[in-house]
Amino acid sequence: MTVVLTREVSPLLEKCELTHQSRVPIDIQRAKKQHMKYEEALEQMGFTIRRLTATPHLPDGVFVEDTAVVFPEFAIITRPGAESRRGETESMADVLKEYRELYYIREPGILDGGDVLKAGKTVYIGITSRTNESGIQQFKEIVTMFGYKVIPIPVTGCLHLKSGITVLEPHRLLINPDWIHPGYFADYSLEYVHHHEPYGANVIRYQNFAICSDAYPETQKLLKKSGYDVISIDQSELEKAEAGLTCCSVIIED
Ligand code: GLY
Repeated sequence: MTVVLTREVSPLLEKCELTHQSRVPIDIQRAKKQHMKYEEALEQMGFTIRRLTATPHLPDGVFVEDTAVVFPEFAIITRPGAESRRGETESMADVLKEYRELYYIREPGILDGGDVLKAGKTVYIGITSRTNESGIQQFKEIVTMFGYKVIPIPVTGCLHLKSGITVLEPHRLLINPDWIHPGYFADYSLEYVHHHEPYGANVIRYQNFAICSDAYPETQKLLKKSGYDVISIDQSELEKAEAGLTCCSVIIED
């Protein structure tokens, strides 16, 4: 049984952090419905959903990916780069400690889970406004104990590293080359997103499925051509809060 941690949408989502996008009105009821469909899609893939304690006072609380990074042997509780998001980690740690030994990123380090791309024993970490040198160094010291290596990656034009790249297969990645330089991933086979769909690179791949936003039809075509069963979902309200699909879940692989 593979558990996925999620959290319900805060009624204050409209007051979320924004870095590269302009603020536009968000329909909270619609966002909640979309998030429920997202959880259903994860269940369709074979995951079991476990919801964290609701944090209605924290606008970005639904974006649980930024608060923790889970490995088979241990997990790291982050220190989110946005001060308004620091209160999100405690409730994550409360649940995650049931599954993994926990390590923590401490001040002056900052690191968002959305900046961490795991590919086997290599961990790529985006250098962004949310993740600094101290955060990366602390992360490296922890994961090195377990035989992982860390490669920092400059990110331009988007919020997190994973806004522009996700793993399709162990040696195959989906990437937006305008935001993430493909040269860092020369050892992989790369699929490029269509230039009209810059955010399309953030998909969730598991077993034979791929969850992809219905805003990215070219990306969906590419995924179908690759042989995946594509689950298309509407995330329009959460996308207004600068969300990718991976942002709203933390997978605890068994
Ligand atoms: N609204 C998502 C974030 O900026 O953290």
